[in-house]
Amino acid sequence: MFLPLTACNLKDNSSAESGWVSLTMATATENGETQVSYVATSAAYSAFVYSPISMSAKDSFINFELKATSPIPVRAEVVYGTGDSAETYYTNLVVGTEYSSFSVRASSVKNGQTAGVIRLYPSYNQLSGAGELFIKNLSGSDYYTSSFYSLTAVEKNSGGNNQSEDPTGGNNQSEEENDEPYVPENATYLYEKYSSYFKMGMCAGYDDYNSYSDLNGHYNSFTCENEMKLYEIGQNEGQYNFDKADQMVSWARANGKKVRGHALIWYQGAPDWIKNGSKAQVLEKIHNYCYTVVKHFKDRFGDTVYCWDVVNEAISDNGGAFRNEFYGTCGIDFIKEAFRAARDADANVKLFYNDYNMDDLTKRNAVIRMLRELINDGVPIDGVGMQGHYAISGGNNVYETNVNRVNAAITAFESLAAETNHPLEIHITELDIKNYTNDNTRLANKYRELFEVFRNHRNSITCVTTWGVTDAHSWLNGFNGNGDAYPFLFDRNHNKKPAFNAVFDF
Ligand code: G3I
Repeated sequence: MFLPLTACNLKDNSSAESGWVSLTMATATENGETQVSYVATSAAYSAFVYSPISMSAKDSFINFELKATSPIPVRAEVVYGTGDSAETYYTNLVVGTEYSSFSVRASSVKNGQTAGVIRLYPSYNQLSGAGELFIKNLSGSDYYTSSFYSLTAVEKNSGGNNQSEDPTGGNNQSEEENDEPYVPENATYLYEKYSSYFKMGMCAGYDDYNSYSDLNGHYNSFTCENEMKLYEIGQNEGQYNFDKADQMVSWARANGKKVRGHALIWYQGAPDWIKNGSKAQVLEKIHNYCYTVVKHFKDRFGDTVYCWDVVNEAISDNGGAFRNEFYGTCGIDFIKEAFRAARDADANVKLFYNDYNMDDLTKRNAVIRMLRELINDGVPIDGVGMQGHYAISGGNNVYETNVNRVNAAITAFESLAAETNHPLEIHITELDIKNYTNDNTRLANKYRELFEVFRNHRNSITCVTTWGVTDAHSWLNGFNGNGDAYPFLFDRNHNKKPAFNAVFDF
């Protein structure tokens, strides 16, 4: 359940960290219920309840970062306009002790229109002790002109009427008192609908990433299809080609998306310079490459690149043996070296192992054995990427995906996390569904079944990315002697397919 914030003026924390303002929170128990209250802890910061956000461009985002002195589940929302016409956009997140982003689409604010309240609703029943909640407005001036926001939370009053404080005329959507995640009724975009579940990700390549201005608003995560791969950035030893990737990461940030880095070490396309040499030489080259690439994006874009597929597809499809590239020279140490180097370069970025066919028991068990060794050896790994290349029957060499086996795979990784007492996030990283018969009904049903499973695992799944946006661009088109694959939620003309409704309407 979320409680409105209480009224207090905010401490201007700018002396400590420029731009940070903080709410100091205290809790008290009344009639057995924990009450959250905020008290100003220092000179009041200028009050903010209703701030002019005059937009100079559409389709921009208001980006904030939040952190707290102790982890707090928070619903952060922006209410545009007032009265009956008010529109509420929000995102649910657990605000940790490290900065986490809160991005609200501002395109509903027409040029020149003003917007209203920004509210933070801590989930009081998970709050323990006093703490501080910080918010910083990160949006650049490129997209709108406005003064820095400062927040005054509205007094959580004991029976008084704070309607006058709330310019939206009480457009406060109270939470149901149950564990069901909050799903906004007026969501327009996939990422909003799923804001209580997981990030929604898109993937695109250099040639098409700029082609979805009408659709990219559905997503708050982005993956470069090829431009951050080893064979793109590190074709030649000691030379790093970041040009395309930098353009795409910069675009993603400007469009309110965090970026999945894909992929540091992958056997496919790996240039000889990094594979050849003694074990010690190869490990050193892997360390230097991974460190340099991760540090580049951290130094240039901060936490926009929020996670990496550090190693991709190290396990083969024949009996779950390791693929020979890198492993033949280094054994499993090449994987450990890559993860440790990435962690050395960025203390906060999330580090994933990524692979496909996790719904195949033999392969999954081999991956789990490998992950268990990494975890037991203290290797810094934060999650598992399940690539999600699924299918409905029809076409050459196409086998219908059994959703129960996908569910079993997710459950198996959750069990590994519990067994090792090592948290593991799960990302569905490359979701597409082979649909060579272009059967929209069966495709929609398969997406519906898969997203029911994903939603059921919302406590471990933190991002679902489709490996493309529209049917016009997919690696599956022409794959294995088949024709077009029709694998996504949007058709070639950017129209929503029944599969979109199957994902959006729940
Ligand atoms: O950019 C060159 C272009 O200059 C050249 O004319 C053309 C023809 O040779 O090739 C172009 O590069 C191609 C690249 O895609 C960009 O289109 C590569 O040949 C081609 O191999 C590459 O395929 C990508 C493949 O990974 C291999 O990197 C696919 O787009 C991409 O969807 C696919 O994605 C992988 C994931 O990274 C890992 N999981 C499996 C997934 C599907 O294979």
